[in-house]
Amino acid sequence: MSTPILVAVAWPYASGSRHLGHLAGAYLPADIFARFQRLAGNDVLMVSGSDVHGTPITVRADAEGVTPQDIVDRYHNEFLDQWRALGISWDLYTSTGTDIHARVTQDMFLRQLENGHIDKRTSDQFYDPQAERFLPDRYVEGTCPHCAYEDARGDQCDNCGRTLDAVELVDPRSKISGATPVLRETEHFHYRYSDFEDQLRTWLHGRVGWRPHVLNSALGWIDEGLHDRAITRDIEWGIDLPVDDLGPGKRIYVWYDAVIGYLSASQEWAINRGEPDGWKRWWTNPEAQSFYFIGKDNIPFHALFWPAQLLGYGGLNLPTNVPANQYVTFKGGKASASRGIGLTIGEGLERFQPDAIRFALAAALPEQSDTEISEEEIARRVNEELVATWGNLVNRVLSMTNKNCNARIPEAVTLTDEDAALLAAVDAAFGEAAGHYERVELRAALRVAMSAAQQVNAYLNATEPWRLMKTDAERGRAVLRVALEAINGVRVLFAPYLPFSCAALEEVFGPVDGWTRPPLVTGAPIGPPTPLFQKVDLASFVTEQA
Ligand code: MF3
Ligand code: ZN
Repeated sequence: MSTPILVAVAWPYASGSRHLGHLAGAYLPADIFARFQRLAGNDVLMVSGSDVHGTPITVRADAEGVTPQDIVDRYHNEFLDQWRALGISWDLYTSTGTDIHARVTQDMFLRQLENGHIDKRTSDQFYDPQAERFLPDRYVEGTCPHCAYEDARGDQCDNCGRTLDAVELVDPRSKISGATPVLRETEHFHYRYSDFEDQLRTWLHGRVGWRPHVLNSALGWIDEGLHDRAITRDIEWGIDLPVDDLGPGKRIYVWYDAVIGYLSASQEWAINRGEPDGWKRWWTNPEAQSFYFIGKDNIPFHALFWPAQLLGYGGLNLPTNVPANQYVTFKGGKASASRGIGLTIGEGLERFQPDAIRFALAAALPEQSDTEISEEEIARRVNEELVATWGNLVNRVLSMTNKNCNARIPEAVTLTDEDAALLAAVDAAFGEAAGHYERVELRAALRVAMSAAQQVNAYLNATEPWRLMKTDAERGRAVLRVALEAINGVRVLFAPYLPFSCAALEEVFGPVDGWTRPPLVTGAPIGPPTPLFQKVDLASFVTEQA
């Protein structure tokens, strides 16, 4: 039975380069999960796009003296190139700058207004008396009221991770002029998140299979009371309001519109396909499932605010699971000390093959707690695990086959107990890994693939086909046949993680089109192999001076 599965991935702000921590936090796990679900025969729709609104973009544009659109174009194109280089298999990667996104956002707003979940309120917001303008979100900095960090931003504290309201900041200062802002009255639309407090609490308590840290964080938010929040801002960059009650200079708040991207992107995908209603398969069908891949700082927006927006609209599916990741932190971080954030995705791609980055990050995904990684650790994992266990295995077996079997896949044989045990172990790995995918345990599913590869290595060490070739060549070829059968299965177990090397293996073994060990084609040609991966030589990296 094919289930429609929406793989919804956090929308990166097009305000700067993303780093490997972001990749491990959302895009890579989403891609691994989507690739598995497609192989398992499910109907996957994987969407995201660049988040182009809000003060992250305008603050950067102001600092560089360019337009917000210039910033957006620069980083959106960078992201597109990097997704291609990394093999992130989007069904659609768009942006919140499209007409359809504005239309869907305005439609949601109007329906929720009609349903009584949006109202207009007057509140005091920070205003810069020198620059003569309001200071929404990141235009104010100051001391965090929770942890006393002095450089907290008006929307969030990067030290304790709390989501903030600019007016809560202690000792606020204007990012534009440095002036001390004053409070000034302004009128804004508010979303009545509190209307959904009880419903969301009950819903969260009924979730099964969610990561404990995600559920605890969401329930913690609800226990503090789900407050109504302004969903418009005094800013010129953003989606226009579909009503003109507030006068000029107001736009929809970036966090209200960004999460709507999941829905508008699904609709854009359907329109592009020539089936404008096709998106409903993932959004109104009760059989459909949806998984939201995000970093932990985005939990309230996806486990509470977006569900509340969906409930206020009505008729659309709530998230099935929000498998948020914790953080990957970089130790050492020598290569980019100036930025203090470890490697950007671009820097990672300059140093490592895409499958190597994917492998090393997947092995360290911060699914339950923060993990640490460094260039040395990536190199170690690539050389000692990926190359040593998998790359060399494939190379060794293909090259022995090339030399000893007329450069063709040899005939099938009657299996010895040892042969049968190996193939049974590889076959069992499919079910075991599928169980991990179901719970979005992607590190564990990778371990299953690695352990299957180790078993093939152990089989070869026990049978020693290189020796058999001299003493009993027929049995030697039989062993190679069994090893090829096993590798033909193991490459499928790796396929969600290593799309580039697995595509190269399709040239040898044929296509992968299901979550199972495919049949081996007797007689298929086996040329002299090219190694699947390069060993990493850390000394060859040119490191930036701090
Ligand atoms: N742009 C936000 C960030 O980088 C994430 C938005 S996720 C979305 O933190 F779903 F809201 F778009
Ligand atoms: Zn703080």
